[in-house]
Amino acid sequence: MRTRLSGSTRQAIANVFNHLDYKRLGSVYCYEGGDEFWQAKREPCRRLGTKVAEALVGKLSRGGRSLYIGAGVAELPMLIAESIDRERHVEPYNLRRSEVTVLNRACRDLPVRFLARDAGSARGRFDHLWMVSVLNDPERFPHLAPLSYGRADPVTFDPARFQKERRIVQSIVNRCMPKLKLPGFVTTSSEEVIWIADWCHRHKVPYRVDRKQYATALVGDPVCFIKVGRTER
Ligand SMILES: C[S@@+](CC[C@H](N)C(=O)[O-])C[C@H]1O[C@@H](n2cnc3c(N)ncnc32)[C@H](O)[C@@H]1O
Repeated sequence: MRTRLSGSTRQAIANVFNHLDYKRLGSVYCYEGGDEFWQAKREPCRRLGTKVAEALVGKLSRGGRSLYIGAGVAELPMLIAESIDRERHVEPYNLRRSEVTVLNRACRDLPVRFLARDAGSARGRFDHLWMVSVLNDPERFPHLAPLSYGRADPVTFDPARFQKERRIVQSIVNRCMPKLKLPGFVTTSSEEVIWIADWCHRHKVPYRVDRKQYATALVGDPVCFIKVGRTER
C-alpha cells in the first residue's frame, strides 16, 4: 500500500535535490563524466526514491528508529519522508566522507544527519534497517559482486579472494542485524536478500520477503521489503 507523502515532505525533498553540490558528487560517483551522470540521474533519483518512500512510510510506525547502512543521494527521499511524515529518528551511515559533507550541507535545515562511520558502530536498537547496494558493491567486492549479479566468469573466478570478501560481507551483516528489534523490517536489494535470509536461517528467525520490488535510479538494483521476526496473528 502506498501512502502519499505530505506537501511539506515533497517540498523538502525537492529543496534538498536543488541544493546538492552535483560537481562534488560527480567525483564521488564517477571517475569521469560526473556532470552528465547527474544531469541524467538527478530527477529519476528523486522521482523513484519518492515512490519507494511512499511504500516504506506506510509500513513503519510513528516515532520508531531506522538504521541506514550505506546511505547516499538515493536514500534522501526515504530519510526525509521518515523523519518528517512519520516523526522517526533516522541514522544514515556512509563511509565516503566527501559525500557525507555534501549531504549534510544540503540537509542542514532537516532532522537528517549523515555519519561518516561504520554502521556497525550504531548504538541502540532499530525497528527498520536499510541496506541497499552495499553487500554487492563491485568497487568494494570485485570478486563477490559478479557472483551476486550472476555474471561470474568461471575462467577467471578467484575462489580465495571471493571467500575473503564473503567473510567481510557476513561480518557487516552479523554486526548490523542484531540491532534490529524483532519483529522489524529490512529494506534491501533483491541481490542482497540472500545475506539477510542467511542470517535469519543461522539465527532461526522467521522472515517473509515481499514480492513487490521497486526500481531505483543510481545503482539500479531493485529494492524490496522483508518482515523479520514472528508477527502476532
Ligand atoms: C555502492 S554505494 C550504494 C549507496 C546507496 N545505497 C545507493 O544505492 O546509491 C555503497 C555505500 O555503502 C557504504 N558502506 C559500505 N559499508 C559500510 C558500512 N559498514 N557502514 C556504513 N556505510 C558503508 C559505502 O561507503 C558506500 O557509500
